[in-house]
Amino acid sequence: MMFSMVDLLFYTITDGKEMIPFSQFISALRKTGLLPSDPRLRHGIRQMRQSAHDSSGPVMIDKKLFRRCVGNNVILLTNAFRKHFIIPDFEQFTLQINKIYESAKHQEGGQVADYIPQLAKFSPDLWGVSLCTVDGQRHNVGDTKIPFCMQSCVKPLEYAIALHELGSERVHRFVGKEPSGFKFNKLSLNEEDKPHNPMVNAGAIVISSLIKVTSKILFKEVQLINKYIQTRLSRCSFQSERETGDRNYAIGYYLKEKKCFPQNADMMAALDFYFQLCSIEVTCESGSVMAATLANGGICPITGDRVLSAEAVRNTLSLMHSCGMYDFSGQFAFHVGLPAKSGVSGAVLLVVPNVMGMMCWSPPLDRLGNSVRGIHFCQDLVSYFSFHNYDNLRHFNKKHDPRRRSDDDPNKSVVNLMFAAYSGDVSALRRFALSAVDMEQRDYDSRTALHVAAAEGHQEAVIFLTEICKVNPLGKDRWGNTPLDDAMQFGHGVVVSILQKYQNEYTEKHSSSSSEEHSAALDSMKSSL
Ligand code: DON
Repeated sequence: MMFSMVDLLFYTITDGKEMIPFSQFISALRKTGLLPSDPRLRHGIRQMRQSAHDSSGPVMIDKKLFRRCVGNNVILLTNAFRKHFIIPDFEQFTLQINKIYESAKHQEGGQVADYIPQLAKFSPDLWGVSLCTVDGQRHNVGDTKIPFCMQSCVKPLEYAIALHELGSERVHRFVGKEPSGFKFNKLSLNEEDKPHNPMVNAGAIVISSLIKVTSKILFKEVQLINKYIQTRLSRCSFQSERETGDRNYAIGYYLKEKKCFPQNADMMAALDFYFQLCSIEVTCESGSVMAATLANGGICPITGDRVLSAEAVRNTLSLMHSCGMYDFSGQFAFHVGLPAKSGVSGAVLLVVPNVMGMMCWSPPLDRLGNSVRGIHFCQDLVSYFSFHNYDNLRHFNKKHDPRRRSDDDPNKSVVNLMFAAYSGDVSALRRFALSAVDMEQRDYDSRTALHVAAAEGHQEAVIFLTEICKVNPLGKDRWGNTPLDDAMQFGHGVVVSILQKYQNEYTEKHSSSSSEEHSAALDSMKSSL
């Protein structure tokens, strides 16, 4: 019986069963971090559901249906189930995230912003955290489906789009790269009469005038980051921002007086566009995918679309790191060591570069304008996990690193394989086979996984290693014993008969194939003579 990669994947998911309920398939998927709504999987899942409708009784997934629906997702699912995503043990990771979430939930204090009714209407108890990894693994806890305005969290995205479209040199002709040391809405410019950076209002307003597309198109671009998830403009917030935006108008006139805008720029249009950007509504769920696009060098993890250049993303992360958290930026860089941007709605967009993006949201703000629970969460996250930019990952570290470690280490691979065989863990063996681990590799005593499984009397493991993996049963360990010798020595009768049968078939097949090869070689010699 020959097994294809798809079959091996199927049995890894079903844990060796010939069919499983659809719901079980979905929960196995969720454990890897993939959601059934993932745009990459949507088509296949829809097909599976469709066949559900066509059948009576509970929907079962068998090999045939799986093969039919899996389509282009073999690689994605294979990586998910052989634990090759950036966070391999996603379930464990999210348990810890939930604990950190719970601890932050108890943080009372802070004030909900009330300068516009759209912000004041939110309950101080709302609290949500969503994350999306660079492989598109997703987790949501708390109030993650409630829309809120991005407010200043949009500034890094606006800046990134400007860099992507115009390049860093052009953008920085109009805006600096240093923290201002002042409040975000201060009427202040640097020594060259430019806004201090793109994360304060003056910088964001000038950038609004630089982007050479109409607001409508740019909106589409912002949504591009999030093509498959709904974002929309809150017209009420936009109107209120306009009506209460005296300070921003003052900044606009100041910028105009100091000739900060490019020639022929329309200051009022730039302000309007800035107000619109602040009024884009997201949820924690959609915001985390935006953050993950920044974590992933500009490629949206769940669509695979490149929406920003790698250089635009790198520059954006640098300025988020130094200027993203108002007057708390220095302390945040010190304690948390990650690029982030907060907004007056209580949102904190957090990026763990090359790992994941997060959106934390809770309306009560501290004295400096940052979400009280958001800050608490970020600090706890980095005290537990080694995500701080300057955490040392090579030497002994008391913190936890949930990232995938390189499993290229052959010693580790053989130990894991032997351990799985010793404990009869067929699921693990299946995962190793799916990961193209050499199932015939030998340990220090020249023993294979088949020796170990046979000596322990694990019938299922022996069947898997022989029938599916076609491991050579004739290999001898350093004492000259084959797996069959071991099964006999330890008195595992059933395993003895499985191995005897397999050994006979194996010897027969290999002697006939070698005589076929021999006669083919003779034929070719004859024809060349
Ligand atoms: O400019 C304003 O007043 C707001 N719409 C933006 C507020 C905000 O989140 C502050 N950020 N730096």
